[in-house]
Amino acid sequence: MARHLITSALPYINGIKHLGNLVGSMLPADVYARYLRQRGHDVLYICATDEHGTPAELAARDAGLPVAEFCRQQYEVQREIYAGFRLSFDHFGRSSSEQNRELTQHFGRRLAERGYIEERTVKQVYSVTDGRFLPDRYVVGTCPYCGYERARGDQCENCTRLLDPTQLIEPRSAISGSPDIEVRDSAHLYFLQSKLADQLRTWIESKTDWPVLTTSIALKWLNEGLEDRGITRDLEWGVPVDRPGFEGKVYYVWFDAPIEYIGATKEWADVDPARRDWSSWWTEGDDVTYTQFMAKDNIPFHAIMFPGTIFASGEDWKLTDYIKGFNWLNYYGGKFSTSQGHGIFTDQALDLLPPDYWRYFLMANAPEGQDSSFTWELFAAQTNKDLADTLGNFVNRVLSFSKKRFGPTVPAGGEPGPAEIELAEELVGHIQDYAAALEAMQFRKASQALRAAWSAANSYLERKEPWVQIRTDADAAALTLRTSMNLIYLFGLLSAPIIPDAAAVLRGLWTEDGYTEGEDQQPVWPSDDEVRELAWLPAGQAFSVPNVLFRKITDDDVAEWREQFGAEDVG
Ligand code: MF3
Ligand code: ZN
Repeated sequence: MARHLITSALPYINGIKHLGNLVGSMLPADVYARYLRQRGHDVLYICATDEHGTPAELAARDAGLPVAEFCRQQYEVQREIYAGFRLSFDHFGRSSSEQNRELTQHFGRRLAERGYIEERTVKQVYSVTDGRFLPDRYVVGTCPYCGYERARGDQCENCTRLLDPTQLIEPRSAISGSPDIEVRDSAHLYFLQSKLADQLRTWIESKTDWPVLTTSIALKWLNEGLEDRGITRDLEWGVPVDRPGFEGKVYYVWFDAPIEYIGATKEWADVDPARRDWSSWWTEGDDVTYTQFMAKDNIPFHAIMFPGTIFASGEDWKLTDYIKGFNWLNYYGGKFSTSQGHGIFTDQALDLLPPDYWRYFLMANAPEGQDSSFTWELFAAQTNKDLADTLGNFVNRVLSFSKKRFGPTVPAGGEPGPAEIELAEELVGHIQDYAAALEAMQFRKASQALRAAWSAANSYLERKEPWVQIRTDADAAALTLRTSMNLIYLFGLLSAPIIPDAAAVLRGLWTEDGYTEGEDQQPVWPSDDEVRELAWLPAGQAFSVPNVLFRKITDDDVAEWREQFGAEDVG
């Protein structure tokens, strides 16, 4: 039994995430974790909210709440939404935890002890009115190049030039709008990443099995020359820097956030004394495979900065074995955008439909090789065809027909013949493709293979036509239906990583009363031999007919949702 540590990029605390965030980190990580558990591996799947930084402070201000209270509330909101999507975290933590504070300070001290930290005094904009230093992008003013009046201190949106806030004409605070600002000296800690360039390059170049998307982004950074990075900020909210002269300063959010992967593992361990060996996941980790999931904009931090922190610590922390990066999911050609309200937020999605509908579509259309697109039309078409017709309708047809003709138990009669043998061989092939795709974290391919298995069942039923067989040969009809019922059970096993709720229903139908939530056990992966036998359900076993497994999405739904969410092509 291998051990698998899985993390997905930590969602920012400052608002509810949209489907584009879910598809590029948490959802695929969950599918992978579920699959590996089902194969009998020991899995630890960790995630957390990323709570520090200016955006959290400002969101709290907008909400009229102290930032700690704002984060506490938003953490609960996000946690509930992810439970609604059935994300099976072993622990969902918070980067503001005490465990992460201790670890972040530990890393900060280690880096300093080992000569990877330098103190530098930098000039920074201070807002007298706001009583605080302003991060570059919270200083606004007129662009010296193009005259745009609302250029930000880090970049002019209009002409895209990178700026330094001191270049802005008539600068003012973006927070209060006040022009009462001045430039003050402030001391900061710089992480001397440049010293690690060779070590990082050797490490990246050893990752020959990583996707090109990941290694090319990392190598681009290395080729451009690693710059030393300021890892402290003049903010109140964050991990305090425990160093004389740094009172009132905190670590930069991108320094403490990845450390929370470890911090959250410690949080998980602290819940239960039986988990005291938590550090074996992160230190003596020879038997642990560590996989990280994230969207492509996160790759530099995970392929360069966080491994750099670990190298510089000189300690034996587990490095990531594989980074699965994702492109963007678009909404009608444009980007999903939180600030412009373009697209669908995770809470809204769950108000419309249960989680399996979203999970299936998002995995079947995962932005892996390239960006992919969400449209209501595509969503309706795929849901109706794959989930409602191919899977759902098969289940209901088989069970209602059998109940009508043979009563509420699995019918006896007939012996498997060439058609059943051929069907089983075809399924073995689809299941191998499916497993291989899941092992390789290719989620589109995996969804296709699963759909192919569902289709094979439909073709079998159409070929055998039990509704015709029954007129002349009841045993033949019974065989077809019993085989089909075993396919339903098989789908309850196979579909579990992607559509866990429906899969649990399919595994739970085999009693008179049907599935009751909460009774479900960890499903196991079917062996080839079991698939060849298709004999999980013996004749005489009671079953119940479920309600419609997946409802169809109508043209009216599409029209309504297009209206509600806006659906103009913006690309
Ligand atoms: N919050 C970041 C984002 O949404 C991701 C942080 S990942 C971590 O882009 F590793 F730094 F935690
Ligand atoms: Zn400009």
